[in-house]
Amino acid sequence: MKSKILEIFRSTPDIVSGENLSTVLGISRVSVWKHIQKLQESGYEIQASPRGYQLLMSPDTPFPWEFPEREGLIHYFSEVSSTMDIARDMARKGAPHLTVVIAGRQTSGRGRLRRSWHSSDGGLYFTLILRPDIPLQWCSRVNFAASLALCRVIRKLTGLNAAVKWPNDLLVEGGKLSGMLSEMEAVAEMVSFVTVGIGINVNNDPTAVEPNACSLMQLLGKPVSRKEILARFLNELQTYLDGSDVNLENVVLEWKEMTCTLGRNVSVITPQETSTGLALDIDSAGALILKLADGSLKKVLYGDCMNND
Ligand code: BTN
Repeated sequence: MKSKILEIFRSTPDIVSGENLSTVLGISRVSVWKHIQKLQESGYEIQASPRGYQLLMSPDTPFPWEFPEREGLIHYFSEVSSTMDIARDMARKGAPHLTVVIAGRQTSGRGRLRRSWHSSDGGLYFTLILRPDIPLQWCSRVNFAASLALCRVIRKLTGLNAAVKWPNDLLVEGGKLSGMLSEMEAVAEMVSFVTVGIGINVNNDPTAVEPNACSLMQLLGKPVSRKEILARFLNELQTYLDGSDVNLENVVLEWKEMTCTLGRNVSVITPQETSTGLALDIDSAGALILKLADGSLKKVLYGDCMNND
């Protein structure tokens, strides 16, 4: 109902009468008023006058009703410990493919290699539940598809020269704009679900805790709509995921065209060791191929990568 009310408001700059809303929506005027009150409590500025109602301002909060085609799959929480934990529990209970768990802020946001992810108000923090019909070894393609989709969206929406850094970070002008953490569960070599958690610095200032990070608002000097980033990202990602593995096949190739990792001297940190060398290539499963100082090649499946030059 909220999405329908907002659609009516947004289709006209005029005041909409309570009577009109009640007729179009097929509910009583008292119900209309109750929905309007709920929207106001959620931060929508709606002016009520004897002539009717007028939407003056919408908050940039990714509420489920802001995504009418996906409303049933979107779950928004103003604060959680980590969207990864909520999404994993939901996935274990059978939440469908493309369920999205979003948080306004996280008290224990997690990063890769057991780091924490600073998750203050203004950023976009969400975890996607995916159920790709693919064998275990292709699982990382899903992560590459997600970082590729996000990179495309940021470039198109902002004009910024975003680049993907192996494995799945997004950088702009060398600063970290976004990070991705992926976890999965499998049954008999087939993926049962993947949870892909993405944190994007949108309208927050991450630099106090992460000096090498940047946010879209800092880069552009104005706020950017989190709702729009998420809506476009989900659409873009779906084009890769629809049709099972077929559309995932070219993901790594496309990803290579948008990366700032290949051809650079890098250090890759894994829980076991740190390897330094020239980032030569990515194989079809997304592993980074390094050329070490002694000329030998080394394949790294997972880790954190730092550009040294
Ligand atoms: C990294 O770069 O180390 C990965 C960061 C991933 C952060 C996101 S924010 C949404 C989701 N919930 C979490 O606790 N972590 C991921």
